[in-house]
Amino acid sequence: MSLRDQVAIVTGASRGIGRAIAVRLAREGVRIAGLARTRETLEETARQVESAGGKMTLYPCDIAETGPVATAIEEIARTWSRVDLLVNNAGITRDNLLLRMKPEDWDLVIQTNLKGAFNTCRAVLRPMLKQKYGRIINITSVVGVVGWPGQTNYAASKAGLIGFTKSLAKEVASRNITVNAVAPGFIVTDMTSNLSEEIRSEALKTIPLQRFGQAEEIAEAVVFLASDSSSYITGQVLQVDGGLAM
Ligand code: NAI
Repeated sequence: MSLRDQVAIVTGASRGIGRAIAVRLAREGVRIAGLARTRETLEETARQVESAGGKMTLYPCDIAETGPVATAIEEIARTWSRVDLLVNNAGITRDNLLLRMKPEDWDLVIQTNLKGAFNTCRAVLRPMLKQKYGRIINITSVVGVVGWPGQTNYAASKAGLIGFTKSLAKEVASRNITVNAVAPGFIVTDMTSNLSEEIRSEALKTIPLQRFGQAEEIAEAVVFLASDSSSYITGQVLQVDGGLAM
């Protein structure tokens, strides 16, 4: 089955890795429903999707909020009559050493990165179970695999997402739904642009391929896991990190 005319929900589609995934999937002929907090930034992605020959509908909402996410996904399923692919990409960091970490920064990261995936997956399962087909791809992080100082909240959310991925994969495998994770290493986006020179050069030393990754390189892994080429793969974490966490 080709990806052409499939329907994909991409969260955090307004910039960075999410935008690259939306544009790359559109190039395969996938119709995109983009979720992010603000319409204005989603509109730029929609323009790029159109330039790639695709079509994207916009759903501004906070993925941490169960009700609005469920409403958006119901509307997407009604509009397109199916949902083939869900890419849980939206995520945030609120870094600090644990001793100095504010409880609200712990909560916000867990609510966004982990509960966000709970909200979207729960809402998308109904159409996927009905059509007996689905691909769910969760964007976790190598930090969830190896840990990183100053990121206990983020690492907990991303490690949690890996456990979530494997458990859900076991729940829905018999219905022809696969659930996998992609774990990026350091990727050049807004999220990593404010890191100090010191942290960047320390990070670079840990990467065997000796460079940071590009958002488009994550998008390639997503296309593979969305495609028929990965039909016998579920519950896996594909690390796209230049060898950082091998
Ligand atoms: P980014 O900060 O450039 O983009 C994040 C996207 O998520 C934006 O579209 C933003 O609007 C959306 N978002 C954030 N909170 C949201 C919320 N509550 N509701 C709806 N949308 C929300 O980040 P980047 O770098 O593109 O990261 C994308 C994903 O990849 C994240 O899950 C991140 O944790 C993960 N990742 C990124 C790495 C990197 O080095 N950039 C490394 C490993 C993982």
